Amino acid sequence: MLTLLKKLNEILLPGDKGKLIMLFFLMFVAAILEVVGIGMILTFISIVSDPSKLLNIPWLASILTNIGIDNSRDMLIYGSILLIAIFIFKNVYLIIFYSIQSHFIYNRFSSIATRLFERYMNTPYVFHLKNNTARLIRNITVETTLLGHNVMLPILAIIMDTIMIISIVIFLLVVEPLNTMIVLIIIGGASGMFLRLIRARIHSYGAQSQEERAVMIQGVNEGLGGIKEIMVQNRQPWFVKWFQSSVQNFSKAETYKEIFRLSSKPVIETVAVTGMLLIALVLIWQGRGVESIIPVLTLFGVATFKLMPSLDKVIGNYNLLRYYGYALGPIHDDLINLSPQNQNSQQNSIVDKQKIGLHDRIELEEISYSYPESSKMVLHDLSLTIKRGAAVGFVGASGSGKTTIVDLILGLLECDKGTVKVDGQDIKNNLPGWQKNIGYIPQFIFLSDNTIRNNIAFGLDKDEINEEKVWSAAKMAQLEEFIESLPDGLDTMVGERGMRLSGGQRQRIGIARALYHNPEVLIMDEATSSLDNRTERYVIESIERLKKDRTIIIVAHRLTTVKNCDTLFIIKNGRVVDTGNYQELLKKSNEFNFLVHSPKEN
Ligand SMILES: Nc1ncnc2c1ncn2[C@@H]1O[C@H](COP(=O)(O)OP(=O)(O)OP(=O)(O)O)[C@@H](O)[C@H]1O
Ligand SMILES: [Mg+2]
Repeated sequence: MLTLLKKLNEILLPGDKGKLIMLFFLMFVAAILEVVGIGMILTFISIVSDPSKLLNIPWLASILTNIGIDNSRDMLIYGSILLIAIFIFKNVYLIIFYSIQSHFIYNRFSSIATRLFERYMNTPYVFHLKNNTARLIRNITVETTLLGHNVMLPILAIIMDTIMIISIVIFLLVVEPLNTMIVLIIIGGASGMFLRLIRARIHSYGAQSQEERAVMIQGVNEGLGGIKEIMVQNRQPWFVKWFQSSVQNFSKAETYKEIFRLSSKPVIETVAVTGMLLIALVLIWQGRGVESIIPVLTLFGVATFKLMPSLDKVIGNYNLLRYYGYALGPIHDDLINLSPQNQNSQQNSIVDKQKIGLHDRIELEEISYSYPESSKMVLHDLSLTIKRGAAVGFVGASGSGKTTIVDLILGLLECDKGTVKVDGQDIKNNLPGWQKNIGYIPQFIFLSDNTIRNNIAFGLDKDEINEEKVWSAAKMAQLEEFIESLPDGLDTMVGERGMRLSGGQRQRIGIARALYHNPEVLIMDEATSSLDNRTERYVIESIERLKKDRTIIIVAHRLTTVKNCDTLFIIKNGRVVDTGNYQELLKKSNEFNFLVHSPKEN
């Protein structure tokens, strides 16, 4: 519980803490008002049963006479009015308090969810290589909701009810010290035993439920994401079964949590009633008179009806905390570990970093790389230089390390050894500045379920989009004719992940996206591999036409794609095994001839 509070404290913003203290204060007042309400009813009942009681108190009687209340009828009327006024005040206050509390909780939810998403979006790329998106989706959407509703609210409620319980107990102790002690021991003991019994189980169900929340999202993600292949292979039952087993585990955990939550009241009530009645029986057995037993039973009644609801809420909320407390774990860890101080300082403040120009050359110096959580070295002491304005190609077998080299040049991955330098400067010194210079077309293009226009001018607001630039990029990517043939033109929706387009059309949108910003350096990783030969030639030609002093890095399987490159690097097992232009390599490199003449070439 203490670690939970400590972690919660660590993820709240400084301003939140001030608000929290104010909320505690308001809550304290609310709890006191609740207790006053209970006291008022008890007082009123005693007045109704014997109005003369108050008039017999001399100082009160004189005040009452002064304001014109001198008989029990008036006292009843004014007493009722006062009681109603107090209750209206108390309940209006409570509504205002609950509304402030709800605003606080749900504003924290939105702020924490946004911060978490922002952290995930700005964390180094390797984080995403290691983490399944289902987990991240769960953390941002489900766990943050649970944190607000099932962790923060219960903490506040526990504090509020504890204040009430303490107030009621003090009140009862003053009225009936001995009997209250007995009641406390019985109810307290019963609650303690109940909590002890279920503590461990509710904790482990909490862990299981959190795990299954991620697996369920993953199941749906993968099942629906791979629907085409799944349908063709008729593998739906396997995915449904996977989802079902996860959902069943989840429901089982939730069921037990609910049973535990609901059974606290009946269990404690049973123990309390039995205890009280046993005491009453013992008193009778001892030969005490009814008059000494009645107060015990009365107190028991008051305790049951006033104390039990609060106690039940405390226990219920405590169980919720134990069950859902897990939600705080990943949110806290990711917010703290991925905090801006712990990230590459260059990853932040993307907006204010100046673009750095490429004036002379890009150098890779003795680079070695292995992926996280993998022992295999993908690149071995790899060195190469790319002159500004050159068109270079990386060729080599699948898995030789071409994409890895490109990702290092892009600054997505960080070398284990060696450096990537631009004009002699390590790109790490100003990564966003370097990245602003690059147009990148990946091997797998991601399209968002939006219009062609928004996919070309990706991640920009409507009023930031320059229509002319969109068309010019579309033209270069050989998309103009296709877009013009569409009834909605640039406003055509492409569908989820570009599902309504052909593979080649998707790829050309990716190319147009990279060209939109008119980058100095263009990096194409298999960017034209799903285009037919003719379209590919047009795309490459229009890029070459626009080339001027642009630097172009092309990764391609199809060697015709890189035929016109100034330099080709042949990559084999993470090493550059030969360089030269197409003709030179044909003459001197066995490896290149092997690639040229391998059967998949066309
Ligand atoms: N995230 C990763 N974790 C571990 N190993 C990886 C990861 N990504 C790639 N690899 C491994 O690194 C090696 C190089 O991969 P890379 O993607 O650079 O190859 P490539 O030359 O681009 O291949 P292709 O032509 O098929 O695209 C491969 O053996 C691959 O299995
Ligand atoms: Mg690749």
